[in-house]
Amino acid sequence: MPVNSPLVHSRRIDPWLLELLRCPITGGGLLEDGNALSTTIANGPRYEITATGLPLFAQSSLSEDGLKQQAHYDRIAKDYLANLGYPHTQEYMAALDRSLLSCVSPNSLGTTAEICCGRGEAFHLLQDRIQCGVGVDVSVSMLEAAQTEHQRRPIRFVQGDATMLPLRSAAFDNVFMLGGIHHVSDRPRLFFEIERILKPGGTFYFREPVSDLALWRWMRAVIYRLSATLDHETERPLRHCEVAPLLENSGLRLTQWATHGFLGFCLFMNSDVLIFNRSFRFVPGIRRITRFFAKLDNWALGLPGMHNAGLQVIGKAEKPAAAR
Ligand SMILES: C[S@@+](CC[C@H](N)C(=O)[O-])C[C@H]1O[C@@H](n2cnc3c(N)ncnc32)[C@H](O)[C@@H]1O
Repeated sequence: MPVNSPLVHSRRIDPWLLELLRCPITGGGLLEDGNALSTTIANGPRYEITATGLPLFAQSSLSEDGLKQQAHYDRIAKDYLANLGYPHTQEYMAALDRSLLSCVSPNSLGTTAEICCGRGEAFHLLQDRIQCGVGVDVSVSMLEAAQTEHQRRPIRFVQGDATMLPLRSAAFDNVFMLGGIHHVSDRPRLFFEIERILKPGGTFYFREPVSDLALWRWMRAVIYRLSATLDHETERPLRHCEVAPLLENSGLRLTQWATHGFLGFCLFMNSDVLIFNRSFRFVPGIRRITRFFAKLDNWALGLPGMHNAGLQVIGKAEKPAAAR
Protein backbone atom coordinates (compact mmCIF):
# COMPACT_ATOMS: atom_id res chain seq x y z
CA MET A 1 0.00 0.00 0.00
CA PRO A 2 1.47 3.42 -0.82
CA VAL A 3 2.43 5.41 2.26
CA ASN A 4 3.27 9.09 1.98
CA SER A 5 5.78 9.41 4.79
CA PRO A 6 9.13 11.19 4.31
CA LEU A 7 10.82 7.99 5.48
CA VAL A 8 9.43 6.04 2.55
CA HIS A 9 10.41 8.70 0.04
CA SER A 10 14.00 8.69 1.26
CA ARG A 11 14.26 5.03 0.16
CA ARG A 12 14.86 4.03 -3.46
CA ILE A 13 12.21 1.30 -3.58
CA ASP A 14 8.90 1.84 -1.82
CA PRO A 15 8.14 -0.91 0.72
CA TRP A 16 4.75 -1.58 -0.90
CA LEU A 17 6.50 -2.19 -4.23
CA LEU A 18 9.02 -4.54 -2.62
CA GLU A 19 6.06 -6.53 -1.27
CA LEU A 20 4.77 -7.01 -4.82
CA LEU A 21 8.10 -8.09 -6.35
CA ARG A 22 9.83 -11.46 -6.47
CA CYS A 23 12.96 -12.85 -8.03
CA PRO A 24 12.04 -14.06 -11.55
CA ILE A 25 14.61 -16.87 -11.29
CA THR A 26 14.15 -18.31 -7.79
CA GLY A 27 10.62 -17.04 -7.14
CA GLY A 28 11.76 -15.82 -3.70
CA GLY A 29 11.29 -12.43 -2.05
CA LEU A 30 13.75 -9.54 -2.49
CA LEU A 31 15.66 -7.18 -0.24
CA GLU A 32 17.01 -3.73 -1.03
CA ASP A 33 20.77 -3.99 -0.95
CA GLY A 34 22.55 -0.73 -1.82
CA ASN A 35 21.93 0.00 -5.50
CA ALA A 36 20.38 -3.40 -6.13
CA LEU A 37 17.71 -5.87 -5.11
CA SER A 38 18.96 -9.22 -3.91
CA THR A 39 17.43 -12.50 -2.81
CA THR A 40 17.85 -13.91 0.68
CA ILE A 41 19.96 -16.78 -0.77
CA ALA A 42 23.75 -16.37 -0.41
CA ASN A 43 25.33 -15.57 -3.83
CA GLY A 44 21.82 -15.49 -5.33
CA PRO A 45 20.84 -13.18 -8.23
CA ARG A 46 21.14 -9.39 -7.81
CA TYR A 47 19.18 -6.85 -9.80
CA GLU A 48 20.57 -3.36 -10.28
CA ILE A 49 18.42 -0.30 -9.66
CA THR A 50 18.98 2.63 -12.03
CA ALA A 51 19.56 6.18 -10.79
CA THR A 52 15.87 6.90 -11.44
CA GLY A 53 14.80 3.94 -9.26
CA LEU A 54 14.03 1.40 -11.99
CA PRO A 55 14.84 -2.20 -10.94
CA LEU A 56 16.41 -4.07 -13.87
CA PHE A 57 15.14 -7.66 -13.87
CA ALA A 58 15.73 -8.31 -17.54
CA GLN A 59 19.48 -7.84 -17.69
CA SER A 60 20.32 -11.46 -16.83
CA SER A 61 17.04 -13.32 -17.47
CA LEU A 62 15.41 -12.44 -20.77
CA SER A 63 13.61 -14.63 -23.32
CA GLU A 64 14.82 -14.60 -26.93
CA ASP A 65 11.70 -12.64 -27.96
CA GLY A 66 12.18 -10.23 -25.10
CA LEU A 67 15.76 -9.58 -26.18
CA LYS A 68 14.71 -8.72 -29.74
CA GLN A 69 11.84 -6.54 -28.51
CA GLN A 70 14.11 -4.74 -26.07
CA ALA A 71 16.52 -3.78 -28.85
CA HIS A 72 13.61 -2.91 -31.17
CA TYR A 73 11.72 -0.67 -28.69
CA ASP A 74 14.83 0.98 -27.30
CA ARG A 75 15.54 1.98 -30.94
CA ILE A 76 12.03 3.13 -31.97
CA ALA A 77 10.68 4.48 -28.64
CA LYS A 78 10.86 8.12 -29.84
CA ASP A 79 8.99 7.48 -33.13
CA TYR A 80 6.46 5.19 -31.45
CA LEU A 81 5.58 7.87 -28.91
CA ALA A 82 5.47 10.56 -31.65
CA ASN A 83 2.88 8.49 -33.56
CA LEU A 84 0.65 8.48 -30.49
CA GLY A 85 0.67 12.28 -30.53
CA TYR A 86 -1.04 12.91 -33.91
CA PRO A 87 -4.58 14.34 -33.49
CA HIS A 88 -6.23 11.67 -35.67
CA THR A 89 -4.34 8.87 -33.84
CA GLN A 90 -5.40 10.35 -30.49
CA GLU A 91 -9.01 10.68 -31.61
CA TYR A 92 -9.29 7.11 -32.91
CA MET A 93 -7.46 5.83 -29.84
CA ALA A 94 -9.94 7.71 -27.61
CA ALA A 95 -12.77 5.76 -29.27
CA LEU A 96 -10.93 2.48 -28.57
CA ASP A 97 -10.28 3.64 -25.01
CA ARG A 98 -14.00 4.25 -24.46
CA SER A 99 -14.73 0.73 -25.68
CA LEU A 100 -12.13 -0.69 -23.30
CA LEU A 101 -13.41 1.33 -20.35
CA SER A 102 -16.98 0.20 -21.01
CA CYS A 103 -15.97 -3.38 -20.14
CA VAL A 104 -13.83 -2.54 -17.08
CA SER A 105 -15.41 -2.79 -13.64
CA PRO A 106 -16.61 0.68 -12.47
CA ASN A 107 -15.37 -0.11 -8.93
CA SER A 108 -11.88 0.54 -7.57
CA LEU A 109 -9.39 -1.60 -9.46
CA GLY A 110 -7.21 -2.22 -6.39
CA THR A 111 -3.68 -3.46 -7.04
CA THR A 112 -3.12 -3.50 -10.79
CA ALA A 113 -0.32 -4.66 -13.07
CA GLU A 114 0.27 -3.45 -16.60
CA ILE A 115 2.42 -5.86 -18.62
CA CYS A 116 4.32 -4.64 -21.72
CA CYS A 117 3.28 -1.27 -20.33
CA GLY A 118 5.35 0.98 -22.60
CA ARG A 119 4.56 4.47 -21.34
CA GLY A 120 1.81 3.10 -19.05
CA GLU A 121 -1.21 3.67 -21.28
CA ALA A 122 -3.58 1.59 -19.13
CA PHE A 123 -2.52 3.47 -16.01
CA HIS A 124 -3.14 6.72 -17.85
CA LEU A 125 -6.60 5.58 -18.88
CA LEU A 126 -7.67 4.22 -15.50
CA GLN A 127 -6.45 7.24 -13.53
CA ASP A 128 -7.38 7.25 -9.84
CA ARG A 129 -9.33 4.01 -9.95
CA ILE A 130 -6.06 2.20 -9.34
CA GLN A 131 -5.01 1.95 -5.71
CA CYS A 132 -1.44 1.05 -6.61
CA GLY A 133 0.15 -0.24 -9.78
CA VAL A 134 3.26 -1.88 -11.20
CA GLY A 135 4.19 -1.58 -14.88
CA VAL A 136 6.54 -4.13 -16.49
CA ASP A 137 8.31 -3.71 -19.82
CA VAL A 138 11.64 -4.79 -21.33
CA SER A 139 12.53 -1.42 -22.81
CA VAL A 140 14.25 1.02 -20.46
CA SER A 141 13.56 3.89 -22.91
CA MET A 142 9.81 3.22 -22.74
CA LEU A 143 9.94 2.81 -18.95
CA GLU A 144 11.75 6.11 -18.49
CA ALA A 145 8.96 7.85 -20.44
CA ALA A 146 6.46 6.04 -18.18
CA GLN A 147 8.23 7.15 -15.01
CA THR A 148 8.12 10.78 -16.12
CA GLU A 149 4.43 10.54 -17.01
CA HIS A 150 3.28 8.90 -13.75
CA GLN A 151 5.76 10.28 -11.23
CA ARG A 152 3.15 11.76 -8.91
CA ARG A 153 1.04 8.60 -8.67
CA PRO A 154 1.30 5.37 -6.63
CA ILE A 155 2.53 3.61 -9.75
CA ARG A 156 6.02 2.17 -10.18
CA PHE A 157 7.82 0.57 -13.09
CA VAL A 158 10.25 -2.31 -13.38
CA GLN A 159 12.16 -3.75 -16.29
CA GLY A 160 11.16 -7.38 -16.77
CA ASP A 161 10.16 -10.04 -19.26
CA ALA A 162 6.45 -10.79 -19.69
CA THR A 163 7.14 -14.54 -19.66
CA MET A 164 9.23 -14.36 -16.43
CA LEU A 165 7.44 -11.75 -14.39
CA PRO A 166 9.28 -10.36 -11.36
CA LEU A 167 5.90 -10.12 -9.59
CA ARG A 168 4.49 -12.07 -6.64
CA SER A 169 1.87 -14.78 -7.09
CA ALA A 170 -1.79 -13.99 -6.34
CA ALA A 171 -0.96 -10.33 -5.59
CA PHE A 172 -2.94 -8.40 -8.25
CA ASP A 173 -6.66 -7.68 -8.55
CA ASN A 174 -6.37 -6.82 -12.25
CA VAL A 175 -3.84 -7.18 -15.04
CA PHE A 176 -3.89 -5.12 -18.24
CA MET A 177 -2.04 -5.66 -21.53
CA LEU A 178 -2.54 -3.13 -24.31
CA GLY A 179 -0.68 -4.06 -27.48
CA GLY A 180 1.71 -6.45 -25.73
CA ILE A 181 0.44 -10.02 -26.24
CA HIS A 182 1.08 -9.92 -29.98
CA HIS A 183 4.80 -9.36 -29.25
CA VAL A 184 5.11 -12.51 -27.18
CA SER A 185 5.39 -15.80 -29.05
CA ASP A 186 5.47 -18.01 -25.94
CA ARG A 187 1.83 -17.31 -25.14
CA PRO A 188 1.24 -20.43 -23.01
CA ARG A 189 3.95 -19.17 -20.66
CA LEU A 190 2.67 -15.58 -20.77
CA PHE A 191 -0.89 -16.61 -19.82
CA PHE A 192 0.44 -18.93 -17.13
CA GLU A 193 2.30 -15.95 -15.63
CA ILE A 194 -0.78 -13.75 -15.76
CA GLU A 195 -2.88 -16.40 -14.05
CA ARG A 196 -0.15 -16.81 -11.43
CA ILE A 197 0.03 -13.13 -10.43
CA LEU A 198 -3.77 -12.61 -10.37
CA LYS A 199 -5.64 -13.03 -7.11
CA PRO A 200 -8.50 -15.58 -7.24
CA GLY A 201 -11.46 -13.69 -8.74
CA GLY A 202 -9.08 -11.28 -10.53
CA THR A 203 -9.49 -10.11 -14.12
CA PHE A 204 -7.18 -9.91 -17.11
CA TYR A 205 -8.06 -7.20 -19.67
CA PHE A 206 -6.39 -6.92 -23.06
CA ARG A 207 -6.56 -4.88 -26.25
CA GLU A 208 -4.52 -6.25 -29.15
CA PRO A 209 -4.29 -6.45 -32.93
CA VAL A 210 -6.42 -9.36 -34.16
CA SER A 211 -6.34 -11.07 -37.56
CA ASP A 212 -9.33 -13.41 -37.53
CA LEU A 213 -10.24 -12.03 -40.97
CA ALA A 214 -7.95 -13.48 -43.68
CA LEU A 215 -7.76 -10.06 -45.41
CA TRP A 216 -6.03 -8.56 -42.34
CA ARG A 217 -3.61 -11.50 -42.11
CA TRP A 218 -2.49 -10.93 -45.70
CA MET A 219 -2.30 -7.17 -45.33
CA ARG A 220 -0.30 -7.39 -42.12
CA ALA A 221 2.09 -9.95 -43.59
CA VAL A 222 3.17 -7.18 -45.99
CA ILE A 223 2.91 -4.17 -43.67
CA TYR A 224 4.87 -5.76 -40.82
CA ARG A 225 7.77 -6.24 -43.22
CA LEU A 226 7.63 -2.67 -44.58
CA SER A 227 7.28 -0.64 -41.41
CA ALA A 228 10.33 0.49 -39.44
CA THR A 229 8.30 0.51 -36.21
CA LEU A 230 6.92 -3.03 -36.65
CA ASP A 231 8.92 -6.23 -36.51
CA HIS A 232 7.52 -9.15 -38.52
CA GLU A 233 9.75 -11.66 -36.75
CA THR A 234 8.34 -11.07 -33.30
CA GLU A 235 4.88 -9.52 -33.84
CA ARG A 236 1.95 -11.85 -34.43
CA PRO A 237 -1.63 -10.55 -34.10
CA LEU A 238 -4.05 -12.66 -32.08
CA ARG A 239 -6.56 -15.18 -33.38
CA HIS A 240 -9.51 -16.37 -31.35
CA CYS A 241 -8.90 -20.03 -32.27
CA GLU A 242 -5.41 -19.83 -30.72
CA VAL A 243 -5.95 -17.55 -27.73
CA ALA A 244 -9.22 -18.94 -26.28
CA PRO A 245 -7.88 -22.49 -25.64
CA LEU A 246 -4.55 -21.14 -24.34
CA LEU A 247 -6.32 -18.95 -21.78
CA GLU A 248 -8.49 -21.89 -20.71
CA ASN A 249 -5.41 -24.12 -20.33
CA SER A 250 -3.76 -21.56 -18.10
CA GLY A 251 -6.83 -21.49 -15.84
CA LEU A 252 -8.38 -18.22 -17.11
CA ARG A 253 -11.97 -18.11 -18.40
CA LEU A 254 -12.46 -15.95 -21.51
CA THR A 255 -15.61 -13.90 -20.87
CA GLN A 256 -15.34 -11.26 -23.59
CA TRP A 257 -13.90 -11.10 -27.12
CA ALA A 258 -15.17 -8.09 -29.10
CA THR A 259 -13.46 -6.75 -32.22
CA HIS A 260 -13.15 -3.05 -33.11
CA GLY A 261 -11.61 -0.94 -35.86
CA PHE A 262 -12.23 -1.41 -39.57
CA LEU A 263 -11.41 0.76 -42.59
CA GLY A 264 -11.24 3.95 -40.49
CA PHE A 265 -8.67 2.26 -38.27
CA CYS A 266 -6.56 1.38 -41.34
CA LEU A 267 -6.65 4.98 -42.48
CA PHE A 268 -6.12 6.89 -39.23
CA MET A 269 -4.11 4.56 -36.99
CA ASN A 270 -1.10 3.65 -39.08
CA SER A 271 1.00 6.79 -39.28
CA ASP A 272 4.11 4.67 -38.80
CA VAL A 273 3.40 2.78 -42.06
CA LEU A 274 1.23 5.14 -44.13
CA ILE A 275 3.60 8.09 -44.14
CA PHE A 276 1.03 10.27 -45.98
CA ASN A 277 -1.28 9.78 -43.01
CA ARG A 278 0.99 12.02 -40.89
CA SER A 279 -0.09 15.02 -42.97
CA PHE A 280 -3.71 14.45 -41.78
CA ARG A 281 -2.77 16.52 -38.74
CA PHE A 282 -2.90 19.63 -40.97
CA VAL A 283 -6.44 18.86 -42.26
CA PRO A 284 -8.99 21.24 -40.70
CA GLY A 285 -11.55 19.35 -38.60
CA ILE A 286 -9.48 16.14 -38.61
CA ARG A 287 -10.63 15.20 -35.11
CA ARG A 288 -14.30 15.41 -36.12
CA ILE A 289 -13.62 13.43 -39.32
CA THR A 290 -11.81 10.72 -37.35
CA ARG A 291 -14.67 10.47 -34.84
CA PHE A 292 -17.09 10.02 -37.75
CA PHE A 293 -14.97 7.17 -39.19
CA ALA A 294 -14.68 5.50 -35.77
CA LYS A 295 -18.49 5.50 -35.54
CA LEU A 296 -18.77 4.19 -39.11
CA ASP A 297 -16.40 1.33 -38.20
CA ASN A 298 -18.57 0.43 -35.19
CA TRP A 299 -21.63 0.44 -37.40
CA ALA A 300 -19.91 -1.78 -40.02
CA LEU A 301 -18.78 -4.28 -37.37
CA GLY A 302 -22.34 -4.41 -36.02
CA LEU A 303 -23.65 -5.72 -39.36
CA PRO A 304 -24.60 -9.41 -39.51
CA GLY A 305 -21.56 -11.67 -39.89
CA MET A 306 -19.09 -8.83 -39.25
CA HIS A 307 -18.50 -9.03 -35.50
CA ASN A 308 -15.16 -10.83 -35.85
CA ALA A 309 -13.91 -8.70 -38.75
CA GLY A 310 -12.27 -5.95 -36.69
CA LEU A 311 -8.56 -5.15 -36.50
CA GLN A 312 -8.35 -4.86 -32.71
CA VAL A 313 -9.79 -7.12 -30.04
CA ILE A 314 -10.83 -6.06 -26.57
CA GLY A 315 -10.92 -9.11 -24.35
CA LYS A 316 -11.48 -10.05 -20.78
CA ALA A 317 -10.57 -13.28 -18.96
CA GLU A 318 -11.25 -14.16 -15.36
CA LYS A 319 -9.46 -16.25 -12.77
CA PRO A 320 -12.05 -18.29 -10.87
CA ALA A 321 -12.71 -17.04 -7.36
CA ALA A 322 -12.18 -20.42 -5.74
CA ALA A 323 -8.51 -21.41 -5.46
CA ARG A 324 -7.74 -24.08 -8.05
C1 LIG B 1 3.12 -1.84 -28.91
S1 LIG B 1 4.00 -1.40 -27.47
C2 LIG B 1 2.64 -1.12 -26.36
C3 LIG B 1 3.00 -0.17 -25.27
C4 LIG B 1 1.81 0.31 -24.43
N1 LIG B 1 1.15 -0.80 -23.77
C5 LIG B 1 0.83 1.12 -25.26
O1 LIG B 1 -0.36 0.81 -25.22
O2 LIG B 1 1.25 2.07 -25.91
C6 LIG B 1 4.62 -2.95 -26.94
C7 LIG B 1 5.48 -2.90 -25.68
O3 LIG B 1 5.76 -4.25 -25.28
C8 LIG B 1 7.09 -4.32 -24.79
N2 LIG B 1 7.50 -5.73 -24.87
C9 LIG B 1 7.64 -6.49 -25.97
N3 LIG B 1 7.99 -7.74 -25.66
C10 LIG B 1 8.09 -7.80 -24.30
C11 LIG B 1 8.40 -8.84 -23.36
N4 LIG B 1 8.72 -10.07 -23.73
N5 LIG B 1 8.37 -8.52 -22.04
C12 LIG B 1 8.06 -7.26 -21.62
N6 LIG B 1 7.76 -6.23 -22.47
C13 LIG B 1 7.77 -6.51 -23.79
C14 LIG B 1 7.86 -3.37 -25.70
O4 LIG B 1 9.07 -2.94 -25.11
C15 LIG B 1 6.83 -2.23 -25.88
O5 LIG B 1 6.99 -1.21 -24.92
